[in-house]
Amino acid sequence: MSTYDARFRVWRGDQDGGDLEDFTVEVHDGEVVLDIIHRLQATQAGDLAVRWNCKAGKCGSCSAEINGRPRLMCMTRMSVFDRAETITVTPLRAFPVVRDLVTDVSFNYAKAREVPSFVPPPGVAAGEYRMQQIDVDRSQEFRKCIECFLCQDTCHVVRDHEENKTAFAGPRFLMRVAELDMHPLDAAAESGLDRRRTAQEEHGLGYCNITKCCTEVCPEGIHITDNALIPLKERAVDRKYDPLVWLGSRIRRRDERTT
Ligand code: SF4
Ligand code: SF4
Ligand code: FES
Repeated sequence: MSTYDARFRVWRGDQDGGDLEDFTVEVHDGEVVLDIIHRLQATQAGDLAVRWNCKAGKCGSCSAEINGRPRLMCMTRMSVFDRAETITVTPLRAFPVVRDLVTDVSFNYAKAREVPSFVPPPGVAAGEYRMQQIDVDRSQEFRKCIECFLCQDTCHVVRDHEENKTAFAGPRFLMRVAELDMHPLDAAAESGLDRRRTAQEEHGLGYCNITKCCTEVCPEGIHITDNALIPLKERAVDRKYDPLVWLGSRIRRRDERTT
C-alpha cells in the first residue's frame, strides 16, 4: 500500500467569519476526501466540524465544495487529484455557515414544505393504483434524489443572490413539482390545485434559465434540467397559451375576487 502527504486547505470558522487553514495530511490508497477530513479531525484538528452519516453516497450529508466545485466528500476519490496539488475544502456557499464545513440547509426544508404533496385519486383504494411502466420510470429517476442539495448550492439564481431565495424553490423542489405534475394519478387539478401555475407563481420556475449547472453536480446523475425543469416549463407554457385554460383561469380569478 502506498501513502503520500497531501496539502489540504480547509475553511475554519463560523457565522462571524473565518479563514482557510493549511494542513499536510497523510493519504492512503483508495481513500476519499472524507477519509482525509476524518484523519485531520483525529490527528490535527480535533474540533473540526463536518457532517456525514453513510460514507456511501446515500445520505446526502457530506456535501461541501472541493476546489470550488460542489461535491460529496465521501464520493470524491483522492486519486482524481494530482498528488502535488493543494486541495481546498470549503462549506456550501449558498447556505449560512454553522461551523467549519457544516452549513444550515434549513432553506431547503422550508421549500420542501411549500410543495403540496401527492393528492390521492378519488374513488381508487390504496393498493389499486395502476400506472404505465413509462410513468413509473419517469418519476423513479427523480426519486433517486438523496437530498444532498448540491444542485441547490450550485444554482446561480440563489448562489450569489440571497434576495431570490424567497421567490425561488431551486432545482430540487421544482423537480418535485414536475414529478407530481407528471404523475398520472395525482388528483391535484380536481382538488383545485394547478401545479403548473404554482410552479410559475409560487416556486419561481421563471427564474430558471436552463443552464444545466444543477444537472452537472448531481451525484445521482439525475437529468434535472432535461427531464424535469424543461418539461415543466413546456407544460406551464402549454397551460398559459391554451385558450380554454386561459379562459377558465380568468373566470376562476374573477370569481375569487368577487367572493
Ligand atoms: S438549470 Fe435552472 S435550476 Fe438548474 S442551475 Fe440552471 S438556472 Fe438553476
Ligand atoms: S437532485 Fe441531485 S443534486 Fe439535487 S439534491 Fe437531489 S441528489 Fe442532490
Ligand atoms: S456521508 Fe452520506 S453521502 Fe457522504
